[in-house]
Amino acid sequence: MSRLVVVSNRVAPIQEGEATAGGLAAGVLDALKQKGGLWFGWSGEVTATSEPTPEHTVGPITLFTINLSRQDYDQFYRGFANGTLWPALHYQIGLGRFEWPEFEGYRRVNDLFARALTPLVRPDDLVWVHDYHLLCLADSLRANGLRNRIGLFLHTPFPAPGVFMTIPSHAALIKAMCAYDLLGFQTEQDRTAFLDYVTRHAGGSADGLADGTVTIDGRVVRTGVYPIGVHVEEVRSQAETPINRRQATRMRANLMERLIISVDRLDYSKGLPQRFAAFERFLADYPAQHGLVTFMQIAPPSRSDIETYQRIRRELEAEAGRINGRFAEVDWVPLRYLNRSFARNVLMPLYAEAQACLVTPLRDGMNLVAKEFAAAQDPEEPGVLILSEFAGAARELDAALLVNPYDERGMAQAMDRALSMPVEERQDRHQAMLAVMRRNSLERWRDRFVADLQAG
Ligand code: ADP
Ligand code: F6P
Repeated sequence: MSRLVVVSNRVAPIQEGEATAGGLAAGVLDALKQKGGLWFGWSGEVTATSEPTPEHTVGPITLFTINLSRQDYDQFYRGFANGTLWPALHYQIGLGRFEWPEFEGYRRVNDLFARALTPLVRPDDLVWVHDYHLLCLADSLRANGLRNRIGLFLHTPFPAPGVFMTIPSHAALIKAMCAYDLLGFQTEQDRTAFLDYVTRHAGGSADGLADGTVTIDGRVVRTGVYPIGVHVEEVRSQAETPINRRQATRMRANLMERLIISVDRLDYSKGLPQRFAAFERFLADYPAQHGLVTFMQIAPPSRSDIETYQRIRRELEAEAGRINGRFAEVDWVPLRYLNRSFARNVLMPLYAEAQACLVTPLRDGMNLVAKEFAAAQDPEEPGVLILSEFAGAARELDAALLVNPYDERGMAQAMDRALSMPVEERQDRHQAMLAVMRRNSLERWRDRFVADLQAG
């Protein structure tokens, strides 16, 4: 069997119990733990020059990382990847900016990754690249003469062509993406949007080819849908491990009778201001819930040196204070806002303690928190998942209470409905979600992608 070479911008620290916020890290780490192989990416360090760090090995995984220079970090990571691509991929074009030098920096860092990676790759290795930071990596690797099979899995949404085309370098990006052999998406909607762009705006043709395969500039590119999943049984057993459970119960004793929970990186795509507004609306519209309900928002800061992220953090701090100021009583604080990460063995039992979970991104590739929450529930007394229809997870978890995150009143009504839902309905919805999640497990995501990449 071929060795797996995984490439992602961020390489997660590998230690048991480590809290790593981000869906990519969970999926990649799992694939490598199972299959072994090499993981290549940015070290997370910014140094005087961009240079590789010494390799190290943890169990079956060999890690190769590279430091970035200040200019590379600014233009590639802060600039094009997170200042331009991330907002456009999440339909937030009003929050994006575009500078040609930053796009050139993005290409330069993709070239840099390719130069450092090329000598490490053996002829029969499978190269699996992850996410929007590295759309041009296969193109750079091919320019270095690499003939291996190279696949990309995009963890984010791929937007409608009209949205993608607001990025002035859109044509160059798509051309570079077509140097991959396999492009994997979270949902059919994402893949269709990509194929739509390629066939209508980039001269690609799908005529006479297998479903989801296109020819462009003489190359055949395969596309597929691989919804990322979670280890359902592992999440549940973490959620009910007695010691964890005890800690969660103690936390619960300090909260009110009914707990609504949310867990997200502090990112504007996650719809946090809209969620806070909906909770305020819920408090205003359902006074009988006063003194009974706590909404706990866990949101560790993310990408904190980017202006748009600093702005949303200030906005949320102000809103949390204002909402509590408006509704809190001497013995009741309705909203708890925590800016930190938690180890999984604390987070999963907390999910199990909650009566409802609000996962209401404005757009999300998948959203693993939604799946983790559902998997953590006690099948006899499950909590209710309130899920944005714009999260990739909504395509599979349609037994959740689906909401439009822009509809404040609709979300407030969903909170009320979740807290008063009869146990039979909660169980039915939970069983339906478990069945889908067991089918589309993390193992299946990994195995299908790797098999398709290998098959060619
Ligand atoms: P994204 O990849 O955009 O961050 P996902 O919901 O797909 O969103 O993945 C988030 C992952 O990060 C989940 O596995 C979740 O458990 C983890 N995570 C998010 N916030 C925290 C936190 N505060 N503490 C620990 N883990 C977190
Ligand atoms: O999948 C979402 C994602 O963007 C990952 O690519 C990334 O590693 C994670 O969120 C956290 O973001 P960052 O690496 O920018 O801290």
